[in-house]
Amino acid sequence: MQFQTVDAIESQLMDDHFLGEEIAPGVKISRRNLVRMSALALGWLALPSALRAELKREQSGSSGERIEVVLAEVHSLARALIADSEGANEEAYLQAVIQLLARMEGPRQPWFGWDTSERKWDMDTLWYSPPVILYQLKFEPDAVIDLHDHRHYNGLIIGVEGELNVRNFDIVDPSVNQADLRRGKVPPKGAEFLIKQSAHQVLRPGKQSTLTRDRDNLHVVRAGASGATCLDLFTHFNREARSYSLEWKDEPIEKNGSGYRASWR
Ligand SMILES: [Fe+2]
Repeated sequence: MQFQTVDAIESQLMDDHFLGEEIAPGVKISRRNLVRMSALALGWLALPSALRAELKREQSGSSGERIEVVLAEVHSLARALIADSEGANEEAYLQAVIQLLARMEGPRQPWFGWDTSERKWDMDTLWYSPPVILYQLKFEPDAVIDLHDHRHYNGLIIGVEGELNVRNFDIVDPSVNQADLRRGKVPPKGAEFLIKQSAHQVLRPGKQSTLTRDRDNLHVVRAGASGATCLDLFTHFNREARSYSLEWKDEPIEKNGSGYRASWR
């Protein structure tokens, strides 16, 4: 989930590095006030390919490649994906991203610690370079992020520690329900419509759950009894990308069925 707007994310991530600072091998800040990781990614991509290959070789190891090295590759795929929003093959893209992230080092804990006091979960931005953002999330035992959408973006969750119970849903008969999530068109606030559970997974370390604009775009995430941490990678198709919460009752319309009533808040 990403309940913030892209504008809000960027205002929080404004870079405080100084001009000329070397933030990665051979990568220097060349402009002030760049978004934090955008500078890193752009600097990386600007390096000659031979130097990139050398740095990648040096950075590889049992603990994996550095996040910025792997995410620069993801960023390149993402730019190509969103260049053709209508024809975008999100499934192939997400599979390629899964392969790339499998090479990546494990995330470090945030230096400022986690604050789960308010809602039993917390999130930290590990990397951001439009249109890609990578979060690390921490859940206390049994913490829940209730039903929400992923409007104008797709997503990949990877379990890191513990267990996460992920249930995905699709809108039933979008034409009747005035919905076209691919284009961000949804029923009006408060109008009830039907959703159907389309997937149910328990994510353990290394296991993934994906969603696109066309399938599984709604989900509920619940941590197991020992809590959990995970990675969330989102790819924005435009600057309207963000999540919205839904009202729903976790009781199927028909006994043992997979259909539920829901509405946008
Ligand atoms: Fe989500």
